[in-house]
Amino acid sequence: MINPPAMGILKAPSSSLLYFIVFLLWLILTSGVQGGIAKDGGFRPRKLFVFGDSYASTGNNDISVRSWKVPYGITFPGVPTGRFSDGRVLTDFLAKYLGLKSPMAYRVRSIGSSKQLNYGMNFATGGAGIFDTIFPGRPNMTTQIDLFQQLIEMKAPSTSSGLNSSLALVALSGNDYSSYLAGNGSFTGSPIYISRVVNQLAANLRRIYDLGVGKVVVSNLPPLGCLPSITVSSAFQKCNSTFDPLIVLHNTILQRALAKLNNETNDAFLLLDVHGSFRFFLLATVGKQIQIPQACSLPHHLCGYVYYCFNLISCIPECQARPGSSRITMSNFIYALSGIFKFENALKPCCLGVNNEFICGSVDATTGNKMYTICSNPKKAFFWDTNHPTHEGWQEVFNILKPSLQQMF
Ligand SMILES: *[C@@H]1O[C@H](CO)[C@@H](O)[C@H](O)[C@H]1NC(C)=O
Ligand SMILES: *[C@@H]1O[C@H](CO)[C@@H](O)[C@H](O)[C@H]1NC(C)=O
Ligand SMILES: *[C@@H]1O[C@H](CO)[C@@H](O)[C@H](O)[C@H]1NC(C)=O
Ligand SMILES: *[C@@H]1O[C@H](CO)[C@@H](O)[C@H](O)[C@H]1NC(C)=O
Ligand SMILES: *[C@@H]1O[C@H](CO)[C@@H](O)[C@H](O)[C@H]1NC(C)=O
Repeated sequence: MINPPAMGILKAPSSSLLYFIVFLLWLILTSGVQGGIAKDGGFRPRKLFVFGDSYASTGNNDISVRSWKVPYGITFPGVPTGRFSDGRVLTDFLAKYLGLKSPMAYRVRSIGSSKQLNYGMNFATGGAGIFDTIFPGRPNMTTQIDLFQQLIEMKAPSTSSGLNSSLALVALSGNDYSSYLAGNGSFTGSPIYISRVVNQLAANLRRIYDLGVGKVVVSNLPPLGCLPSITVSSAFQKCNSTFDPLIVLHNTILQRALAKLNNETNDAFLLLDVHGSFRFFLLATVGKQIQIPQACSLPHHLCGYVYYCFNLISCIPECQARPGSSRITMSNFIYALSGIFKFENALKPCCLGVNNEFICGSVDATTGNKMYTICSNPKKAFFWDTNHPTHEGWQEVFNILKPSLQQMF
């Protein structure tokens, strides 16, 4: 068992003044905002292959699942597309950043034109895990890679060329653990389970690489205690920290596993710190006390934001010592900072069942009436439903992840 990161408590600066300054800087700097891909890494992905769950899925679930129901997709493209959000998800933002179209969902590949199939393939399915989960019929990660291997073996259009200049995104966000706890899994037994999960994940990552993919980016576990499905018990006011030590354990073992894989493969693997970027929005609520994990448990680019935003003196020396800190650009910083002000209560989801018998997307079986409510402006909500970010939430999270991606590309 390891300790959760120590917390530092800071007082937020006067929010309206800061907002004004940020807005001004934003106006000045948006003309020069970074777009596309940094040229220094040399690796230019031409296809994207995606494995994982609802954080990455773009339509692999069966149409009986809520991601295919109104109001999912209302922000973009206006109708449900099988994404667990009101708009785009992590995969879409990554694809756009790479200058690619979001790859087709495996489930609908037969209707894809040869051009559409040229951008790779998405195997991620909402509810999936590294092992089987409580959600029936979801292909676990092993099965998702099996499907990928089959396409390679049959020389399908999506895999027949350019595999070595393709990128894989792997996003598994906690279904293994919710299933473990919903079954007979005990809290005390969980460190053993966590190492089984991460060992299997590492073996799967290696397998994806061995199938010929050039580079692999992997997300870590988000702060699960901040998901609205958990914070509902505090009326969305407070993250529940009970499971933090276990999440930190998963993320720490994962980081070590990636270091080992990188040592064996000439740096083919990159961690996407979804945990750190979620925390940035979920814990830094303006007008309240800002809680930031003791500076240097943050990845270096966030460390930089903290340094700029809040002048957290203790952070500076370690930030400066970290390679990559120089990659903090003023525009990245402004992006992240303006993101904090965007969300009214980042913990409160936009779309909610009218009571706890219903979920976002529920309708009354006899009358057909909506049994959910939607917030007036989804752009001001970080979470869409009780487990998934909005389009805007993912957009802001992705802005924070960009500097680390620039190390690879
Ligand atoms: C994944 O699913 C397949 C098919 O259901 C099953 O045979 C396999 O044991 C599962 N693998 C893991 C690691 O859970
Ligand atoms: C990818 O494979 C092609 C054809 O086998 C080869 O010409 C090219 O050099 C490879 N690229 C990389 C980055 O390994
Ligand atoms: C939980 O444990 C009991 C007794 O050991 C067993 O009968 C049951 O099938 C288990 N349930 C799950 C979901 O694993
Ligand atoms: C946090 O979650 C755990 C496990 O579900 C629960 O036992 C505990 O009461 C929760 N704590 C708070 C403060 O809600
Ligand atoms: C990297 O691999 C070499 C041998 O291949 C080994 O000596 C070294 O300890 C490894 N480093 C890490 C950090 O695993």
